[in-house]
Amino acid sequence: MLEGRHYVEPLNFTTEEMEYLFALAGEIEKDPLLFRDACRGKVLATLFFEPSTRTRLSFEAAMLRIGGNVLGFAEPGSSSAAKGESLVDTIRTVACYSDIIVMRNPKEGAALLASRYSDVPIINAGDGGHHHPTQTLTDLLTIRQIRGKIGNIKVGFCGDLKFGRTVHSLVEALTRYEGISMVFISPVELNIPGYIKTGKLDSNRISYEETDSLEKVIADLDVLYMTRVQRERFFNEEDYIRLKDSYILNTEKMSGAKKDMMVLHPLPRVNEIDIEVDEDERALYFKQAKYGMYVRMALLSSIMGGVNA
Ligand code: CP
Repeated sequence: MLEGRHYVEPLNFTTEEMEYLFALAGEIEKDPLLFRDACRGKVLATLFFEPSTRTRLSFEAAMLRIGGNVLGFAEPGSSSAAKGESLVDTIRTVACYSDIIVMRNPKEGAALLASRYSDVPIINAGDGGHHHPTQTLTDLLTIRQIRGKIGNIKVGFCGDLKFGRTVHSLVEALTRYEGISMVFISPVELNIPGYIKTGKLDSNRISYEETDSLEKVIADLDVLYMTRVQRERFFNEEDYIRLKDSYILNTEKMSGAKKDMMVLHPLPRVNEIDIEVDEDERALYFKQAKYGMYVRMALLSSIMGGVNA
């Protein structure tokens, strides 16, 4: 089903294909050793032109746990990009050495460009403020595993909705599910982009509201998706400092939320969730990080044909 495919944007896969991946990830979670040879003899290249902990290491852990090998770089300064090599030349070269490439790059559209020149599948691990589709697989799998299904939920997105690629990808993916409504909680400077409101929400008749107050809406939410203010995408430090602590989720705010509200965060966290919230059973962000590995195991084995996909 997914053999040989690129994954650049969240909707590159149909709802059925994503459901297949979630079901497979669930099987992997139950008994990972059954899949230990799914990618035996295959090589994953991880090319990270921007920092990462979870995405790179969960992809590498995923590949190692399904029997494959990994190579790559964690920062471009150690690659020939530092000598001026173009992205296209880097991709064409690395495709000679690997069976699949996972790539993060600060430029919007970089993964799409790479997919046009690569002889092996490209997986987008984040392109600037645009998309992060495997984080979306992670987020949706977490909702599905905890709630039993995806749908009929009110999802609040809080923080940097302008630059947050995980938000952009998840919003787009959620538009395909039944009974979704959304609340966008941000300072006006970090509002969700207009192209998402008109192109993804209005066009799909998704109900949404915008507010700058987390306290006013938290009681209505089934999922609260917190995000970090993306310092690296700001044009000046003053604006970042002014906006960085706009929202801090703490136990007092949690006391006004539903008893089963899920708190998700793609991580890394800076200041926006007080560590005291970590003890609340509704705080699911580290579980979410683990689901990220399972769904990436499912993704790699399906694209490389190691399981009957
Ligand atoms: N969620 C996420 O993309 O985390 P990293 O930046 O650590 O990969």
